[in-house]
Amino acid sequence: MIQVKDFTKKYAGFTAVKNINFEVKAGEIVGFLGPNGAGKSTTMKVLAGYLPPTEGSVKVAGFDVVKDSIEVRRRIGYMPENMPLYTDMRVEEYLRFRARLKGVASKKIKERVEEVKNRCSLKDVERKIIGTLSKGYRQRVGLADAMVHDPELLILDEPTIGLDPHQIRSVRDLIKDLGKHHTILLSTHILSEVEMTCNRVVIINRGKIEASDTVDNLTKLVRGGGAIKVEVQAMSSLAKDKLIALPDVDDVEILTDSEWTQIKVFPKNGADIRDTVYGLIRNEGWGLRHFNREGASLEDVFVELTQD
Ligand SMILES: Nc1ncnc2c1ncn2[C@@H]1O[C@H](COP(=O)(O)OP(=O)(O)OP(=O)(O)O)[C@@H](O)[C@H]1O
Ligand SMILES: [Mg+2]
Repeated sequence: MIQVKDFTKKYAGFTAVKNINFEVKAGEIVGFLGPNGAGKSTTMKVLAGYLPPTEGSVKVAGFDVVKDSIEVRRRIGYMPENMPLYTDMRVEEYLRFRARLKGVASKKIKERVEEVKNRCSLKDVERKIIGTLSKGYRQRVGLADAMVHDPELLILDEPTIGLDPHQIRSVRDLIKDLGKHHTILLSTHILSEVEMTCNRVVIINRGKIEASDTVDNLTKLVRGGGAIKVEVQAMSSLAKDKLIALPDVDDVEILTDSEWTQIKVFPKNGADIRDTVYGLIRNEGWGLRHFNREGASLEDVFVELTQD
């Protein structure tokens, strides 16, 4: 659905995105992550046809964003980070206006506007002037706008920024639901949201792609991925020596040291060391009251891949 090849974007000489490549397949929900200024919004604007690429090729559903921009716009619903809403229009009026602008057939407009108002919980405010709405409701109008022509692909630039926890949850559920029938590229700084909604993440830093994989695979790569935390009744120095001697164990860290010792055991590159660690504890006859495999979080991955 999205193909980005050797794409570079420069602003008046400043290179915001440097020669990046990535793809999004039809049906995927992909999280687009990166620190402030990494180049997420820039890439999304180019995908949506709002800015031309400086170099490289950017395609949506096989159509070039520059040469076939009309075909691309028909298939894309874009929610920009700063929504340029017409603030003196009423919600209903605005959505109808946007539907018409996006080429929705006249007899379909009513039905489509009704559908997106329902989906984005806007029925209560349909007659309100957009300028008088709270930020969260404006976000929802922006989302409804992105969806009104029923596009195959949604490009959502921080759709939950500024929302309260209830609204974050409802937008997240909406995105999950939309993901059943749409392809979605979503940027956000809320990593738990990504863990809950996205099949895959693309991490960009200083205009370069650092990673593109499932959350599961990424968390295996960083230190702490597949680490095991145990609490055993054993002398800490002895436990450490025995554990570190096990195959596939990279490091052993003593967390607390009293009658019961809490230990974290790190595997070599994502190896599954549960059996060997448990086998050792049993053979040594140590008391055991906690045994847990701890995944690294997406936050660990993000920090490791994007720190300088
Ligand atoms: N119109 C512009 N003119 C000049 N530089 C720009 C322009 N827009 C963005 N930039 C620069 O390009 C870089 C990438 O910006 P971009 O908005 O794509 O980042 P982002 O990943 O979306 O960050 P954030 O998480 O803060 O939204 C930044 O260094 C930014 O200052
Ligand atoms: Mg941005």
